[in-house]
Amino acid sequence: MSLVDLPGAFDTSRIVKLRHQLASHPLMTTESLAALALRVDPRNVRLHDGERDLSGNMSELLISDPTRQSLRNALDNLDRSKAFIQVSNVRSDLLYAPLVEAFIDEVVRYLPGQQRELVHRDAAVYLASPESMTPFHVDQEETFLCHIRGPKTLWVWSHLDRSVLSERALETFFREGTLREIVYRPEVQPRAKELELQPGDAVFMPTGAPHAAMTGADVTVSFSVLFNTPGSMETVETFRANHLLRRLGLNPPPVGHSPMQDALKRHGMVALRRLVELATGRKLEAYSFL
Ligand SMILES: [Fe+2]
Repeated sequence: MSLVDLPGAFDTSRIVKLRHQLASHPLMTTESLAALALRVDPRNVRLHDGERDLSGNMSELLISDPTRQSLRNALDNLDRSKAFIQVSNVRSDLLYAPLVEAFIDEVVRYLPGQQRELVHRDAAVYLASPESMTPFHVDQEETFLCHIRGPKTLWVWSHLDRSVLSERALETFFREGTLREIVYRPEVQPRAKELELQPGDAVFMPTGAPHAAMTGADVTVSFSVLFNTPGSMETVETFRANHLLRRLGLNPPPVGHSPMQDALKRHGMVALRRLVELATGRKLEAYSFL
């Protein structure tokens, strides 16, 4: 049985709503996912317990809890508080890794040949209280948000709509990894695609597509499968190169304006990493922050 219903030709540049088959999987019960949250390295669990609105900054709101005490409280009171719990690096868990790999392997078969050597694979879990908000944000990865429990309204904006987020805001996000400049403005709301999610619904979101969510009258659970194709990582690299060029006082053309210029900028990033390696004697990973 397949884990996700993909159309024949899967286009990673489009937001698309699909169906998945994870909701009835034994690892997807709220109890199993709560146990995962309590078992993984506490640095991989971030939470916020309290009111949040669309304009909240997830980088600042979500905190890690080394003692796991606030996490236990949030999990115990999930149905009557306003908590949001994010478990990342799920692929590092021995119990969940095979399921994450199986899902991604299934998706890879539908990608164009040159996009199948994925740069990054992982998954994250989101547990949220009833009537609680996930503020406006973007992610670096391509995301399959698989909805598992409860009703959720998801708003997604096009990753190409610069009236929602500017080139500069995305450059800062991809270079620094913070949401400092990813700011929600009420006037962008009509430009969102609004999707009502029930268990079994999945939404694919391209890298850099802004999104936010509001849960309905029940605890909600979502399982996001995350990856980067070579193509999405090239986009990330080009934003990072533009950020550096802007820091040098230049005014680079937007990402996607000229594929040849974008490729040159990425070559520049590779050269810069080699230079840092030579200067520091330290080996850097491909696509590491500079
Ligand atoms: Fe997200």
